[in-house]
Amino acid sequence: MAQPLYTIPGAAAGAAPAAAAPAAAPARTVAEVLAQSQVESVLDELDRDLVGLAPVKARIRDIAALLVVDKLRANLGLGAAAGPSLHMSFTGNPGTGKTTVALRMAQILHRLGYLRKGHLVAVTRDDLVGQYIGHTAPKTKEVLKKAMGGVLFIDEAYYLYRPENERDYGQEAIEILLQVMENQRDDLVVILAGYHDRMETFFRSNPGLSSRIAHHIDFPDYAADELLQIGSRMLDAMNYRFGAGAREAFEQYLARRIAQPHFANARSVRNALDRARLRQASRLFADRDRVLDADDLTTLAPADILASRVFAAPAAV
Ligand SMILES: Nc1ncnc2c1ncn2[C@@H]1O[C@H](COP(=O)(O)OP(=O)(O)OP(=O)(O)O)[C@@H](O)[C@H]1O
Ligand SMILES: [Mg+2]
Repeated sequence: MAQPLYTIPGAAAGAAPAAAAPAAAPARTVAEVLAQSQVESVLDELDRDLVGLAPVKARIRDIAALLVVDKLRANLGLGAAAGPSLHMSFTGNPGTGKTTVALRMAQILHRLGYLRKGHLVAVTRDDLVGQYIGHTAPKTKEVLKKAMGGVLFIDEAYYLYRPENERDYGQEAIEILLQVMENQRDDLVVILAGYHDRMETFFRSNPGLSSRIAHHIDFPDYAADELLQIGSRMLDAMNYRFGAGAREAFEQYLARRIAQPHFANARSVRNALDRARLRQASRLFADRDRVLDADDLTTLAPADILASRVFAAPAAV
């Protein structure tokens, strides 16, 4: 077999990946692995903190179960020569929680001892691919070096591949990625993310990449009631709340916004709330002499939401 062309410095040669938990007697039950790794708290937080996403949460539990059993097998000397392949693809529309879930995934893999550090490095094509000849390999290797021991999250991964451009440097980045995904998969997990359809086309044109991805996870769009719940949680986290009638106004806002172009799920919710906070601030700012109490400062009024341009257009478009 040919020597790997690229080896990104990572874990000290021969060093076993450090488990997050202190060394203890090898676990023999699922409960023992869970207790030693403290992975269950991350899974519970994922359930609790993220609204909806039932299929995504179920897939992540399945992956965690697979890894826990893998640990038990290894403890009995039944381990495979190579660790499990953990590269993934996260497909879905903008704002469906891909980046957020990738961060949790990195934590889970760290706690189970599959990643030394468990950090996440998020990049797009421009971070990997250079403009000129000779620039791509160093750029890609630099990113890989930063990501070693954690997760490399490549957003809109399909931009790496430009079939219309014969001499596109993206291909060079893909080739380096492929080698590292294969040869250093015990020290780096790659998550490729993007729109569902474009990722499918991308994988069809890059069977080498596709075949190295063990887990394809699809992120559904949120339903209106889930978006409302996400909005309430975001407000809560920022120490704001809907005043009388404002929740209903936001519901109406969402119904219209979902139907409009460039709707981006939870990201649009966050943006809408940011604009509502701006309007609230302008409203309070105009009232120079009023003493503002905590209620005034934390409450969004219906007007703060209904002033959105979304209400200027007919709901049907
Ligand atoms: N299920 C959820 N529950 C609560 N908050 C969520 C949920 N999904 C996403 N969010 C919030 O919405 C915002 C956008 O999410 P995130 O960045 O993870 O989406 P994304 O799919 O990566 O989007 P993009 O494609 O735009 O990068 C974040 O602030 C995140 O905290
Ligand atoms: Mg993202």
